Parts: sequence; structure tokens; C-alpha cells
Amino acid sequence: MTALDGFIAGLPKAELHMHLEGSLEPALMLALAKRNGVELPYATVEAAEAAYDFDELQDFLDLYYRGTSVLRTAEDFHDLTWAYLERVRRDNAIHVELFFDPQAHTARGVAFVTVIGGIESALLAARRQCGITSRLILCFLRHLSEAEGFATLEAALPFRDRIAGVGLDSSERGHPPSKFARLFRKAGELGFLRVAHAGEEGPPDYVREAVDLLGIDRLDHGNRALEDPALVERLRKMQMTFTVCPLSNLRLKGVARLEDHPLRRMLEAGLRVTVNSDDPAYFGGYLGENYRAIARALGLDRAALATLARNSFLGSFMTPEERSAALGRLDAYLATAG
Ligand code: ADE
Ligand code: ZN
Repeated sequence: MTALDGFIAGLPKAELHMHLEGSLEPALMLALAKRNGVELPYATVEAAEAAYDFDELQDFLDLYYRGTSVLRTAEDFHDLTWAYLERVRRDNAIHVELFFDPQAHTARGVAFVTVIGGIESALLAARRQCGITSRLILCFLRHLSEAEGFATLEAALPFRDRIAGVGLDSSERGHPPSKFARLFRKAGELGFLRVAHAGEEGPPDYVREAVDLLGIDRLDHGNRALEDPALVERLRKMQMTFTVCPLSNLRLKGVARLEDHPLRRMLEAGLRVTVNSDDPAYFGGYLGENYRAIARALGLDRAALATLARNSFLGSFMTPEERSAALGRLDAYLATAG
């Protein structure tokens, strides 16, 4: 471990862009398949990993949705969530905001309450046992219809107080944010915070739509906004938080090499950038690995890494008390880290 790796390991941080279903490691997938009598096309961890070779977002999504088929009971969702929390705790994540895709489960006959109940019990245990605070963000699948989105919002209402916000994920190309303008307006009226994936593969116009038509409080990915200087200036002025996912961008071929990643340019443009893992079981690294890989590839120094960690708290949906406590921990660490 280099000195910089040690610095990163100790840095208190928040993760703001992580799909729970994307933290399903092959070993757990196989174990749950066995527990639930589900057939998978892979018999071993190695065979599953060999299939994780993607040219674009859709290649990944096809495997990601197939993987979700092993998740059936509240215990499965608990085990999935707990495995992630135990892992990210070792990266010194003190706060996490997790996406989940209810439509990937309700379409298979798994009840909303089963999904959220299992996730919640693990979040509660992490709060009690590890002091990790958390928020849940319900993502609508953008390849499905607006009507299906509205039905999902309705199904979420009994759990309104346990869901901080709504998001938009899945296949970006051909499914612009404008398709969900009315759904997001309704979610906003109900008091949900709003985020959306935009500019991962889609053009800068999709980012503009996410801001103007969905009223987003935070932007997931956003990389392609850089192609439009006027948009960058607007996002800088509004202090929009970007949840950037370096290893995801590499594995989905948004960048050919991590050395070409736009994160440094985003920081230099004054954007509020954060580092996240997206789907760590599929993209080869959890939160700490994303920090280490991007620091190495772009030659980021301690000050830049501290900014990324600070941004993760500033851009989070923590309460003001939680945020000031987290920033205090970060400042205390920076004051003592050699
Ligand atoms: N669902 C899970 N991961 C995703 C990603 N990176 N982009 C869009 N939808 C997703
Ligand atoms: Zn994502």
C-alpha cells in the first residue's frame, strides 16, 4: 500500500451512487440461486466473472437484470445489503445513499414490502453496529413506461418516510428525461428529493432536461455535460453535485483508459464532483478502489482527494446535523493525517 492509498483508506467519505443490485457478488448470486432453486447460466464464480465483459451500458444491464432473478425473499435483500455495508465500511464510508430498482423485482412477483423490508433491516443493523448512516433512493427504470413509473410511485407511498428520493436509471439512449417529467413533478410534490442518471451515454441535452424538466437535486454521472461549456457554467453556478463513477466508466467504455477520465477536468472547472462505485460487483471495485484507481490514473494529490470526500458530504442528503458531524470528522482526519 502506498502512502496515498493509506491516506485514502482513512479518509471519511460518503457514497452517493451505488445500485444495491449492482453489489451482488458472483459468490452470493450462486449461493442465493441455490437457496431459492433458481437456474443461472453460470456454475462458478469464475464463469460469472468471465461474462462480465461489456462494450456498453446495455451489455451490462442485460446481465445485471439476470442477476436480480436470484433475489426473492426479504432475507436475500438483507444479505445483499449487509454484504455491501460490511465491505464499504472497510473503505471508511460513514454514510451511504443507495439506489434500488423495485421494478426489477415487482415484475417477477416479489412484493415491494419484501424488497424494502430486507434492505431496511440491514441498514438499521449497520446504523446500530457500525454507525453508518444511510438514505434510500428508489430508481425508476427508464426503459419502462411512464405509467409503470406512476404505478411504482404509488406502491412506494406506504413507505414514504423510509425513501429519501427518487432516481432514474437503466438504458439511457432513446429514453430521455423528458419521458418522465410528469412523474418527477409528482414525486417532487410528494416531497421526494430527485436525482437522475444523465450524460453517462446520453448527450448534454439529456443533462439539461434532467435539470429543467425533472428538477434534479443531484446529477448521476453527468460526464458528457463537459461537451457543452454553457451547461458546465450553469451546473457550476448552481453547485450541482455530480456522482462520478470512474471504474464504471472504464468498464462500460465511456473512457478507453482511466488516464483519459474527465474527473480532473471536472474538478478544474469548479464542479462539485464526487467518486462512487455504481455497480461494484460488476465493475471491479468498491468505493476505496475507485478513489485509488482514479488518484493513480490522474495523479490526484491529497488536497484533491480531500475535496472529493468533502463534496460527498456536501452533496449528500444528510440532515444538517449529520453533515456537520461528518465534515468535522473529515477535518479532524485531515489535521492529523501525516
Ligand atoms: N443501473 C445500474 N447501474 C446503472 C448505470 N450505470 N447506468 C444506468 N442504469 C444502471
Ligand atoms: Zn448508476
